[in-house]
Amino acid sequence: MTVTSDIRKGLNGVVVDYTAISKVNPETNSLLYRGYPVQELAAQCSFEEVAYLLWHGELPTPAERAAFEASERALRALSPAVQAVIDLTPTTAHPMDVVRTAVSLIGASDPDAENDTREANLAKSLRLFAQLPAIVAYDQRRRRGQELIAPRDDLDYSSNFLFMAFGEVPAPAVVDAFRVSMVLYAEHSFNASTFTARVITSTLSDLYSAVTGAIGALKGPLHGGANEAVMHIFNEIGDAAAAEGWLEGALTEKRKIMGFGHRVYKDGDSRVPTMKTALDTLIEHYDRPALLSLYTTLELAMTERKGILPNLDYPSGPAYHLMGFDTAAFTPLFVAARITGWTAHIMEQLESNALIRPLSAYNGPDERHLAAA
Ligand code: SDX
Repeated sequence: MTVTSDIRKGLNGVVVDYTAISKVNPETNSLLYRGYPVQELAAQCSFEEVAYLLWHGELPTPAERAAFEASERALRALSPAVQAVIDLTPTTAHPMDVVRTAVSLIGASDPDAENDTREANLAKSLRLFAQLPAIVAYDQRRRRGQELIAPRDDLDYSSNFLFMAFGEVPAPAVVDAFRVSMVLYAEHSFNASTFTARVITSTLSDLYSAVTGAIGALKGPLHGGANEAVMHIFNEIGDAAAAEGWLEGALTEKRKIMGFGHRVYKDGDSRVPTMKTALDTLIEHYDRPALLSLYTTLELAMTERKGILPNLDYPSGPAYHLMGFDTAAFTPLFVAARITGWTAHIMEQLESNALIRPLSAYNGPDERHLAAA
């Protein structure tokens, strides 16, 4: 077996399979979900409609949308077992570990977990889509010493998510900024967590195992964990006047500046302008000009100093902060959105599956043998 010496560390630039779910195009700096520009979906569609589009390939008809919403609303409430496992998980655990544990229990409790028909996987996908808001909202509330809030089935997905987290439905501008963030975070082709889900699925393991693995991959600060890390950076810097000095120091220490750079986009992340507009709305609504000044100063300094542009996590972190979420809850919010893309890819992987098993080039010791006994 000849092993090529052309090693592509991190699979950088390697095309491993087709997908019909989304197209990330760095040449045109664009992102399509099933052919629709994400900016149009963010402007005109609910997150429920985008979930339906990713799973079914088409936007729902009014009747399909009504049926989908009714099914989703019926699944929102936490089961006593899931609430108990959240309560049993120490508050010293990272919220991503709580999400991973809760999803794992939902899977272990599903009698249909091993059924990998499309119909069964659609049902599992909808269950996780509907349950994640309660998991994320309740975990944040229990850390604050607050009680669980039951979902309301008279509210759409975004309004209900914020209601379960904060006990009230915020202003329409805040709900809409949240909806936009969910649409933008939903799907992004073969990113590390999605590819993790596809690798697990390629062995014919179950959807819940694939999602649990994807949550583990998303937690890392080079991937989904970056939105939380952006807020830590803002808190570390303090105000705009300190931004340039902070950046010089950080770059001297060879630190990665969270929220900047992307493996695929090299002229800026196509989603950033849309999320930045949502952030601007929130900054105006909550009257936080100092936050905007810090955001803009750091972005300008990073662009001038390193020529590296923001990714979606850069505007999303401060946006979730303004909405009132704890910083450690930011990446769980990313999970609640990306569950749609992950599960769409899991179902696509099963349609024309091939076990994902790359090669390695050995650079260990030459063959050697134990001394005769
Ligand atoms: C997401 O893949 C997806 O689609 C992911 C995602 C999605 O929707 O699923 O878009 C979500 O994960 C966005 C990325 C969030 N991560 C961060 O914000 C973490 C900070 N960013 C970097 O770690 C980095 O930009 C990556 C990991 C995102 C991409 O890095 P690459 O393509 O592997 O490039 P690299 O790390 O090899 O960097 C190339 C050069 C290096 O300099 P040298 O060592 O060659 O001198 O650019 C430098 C890097 O040091 N660089 C940075 C930097 N990003 C790149 N230097 C400082 N800060 C950064 N953020």
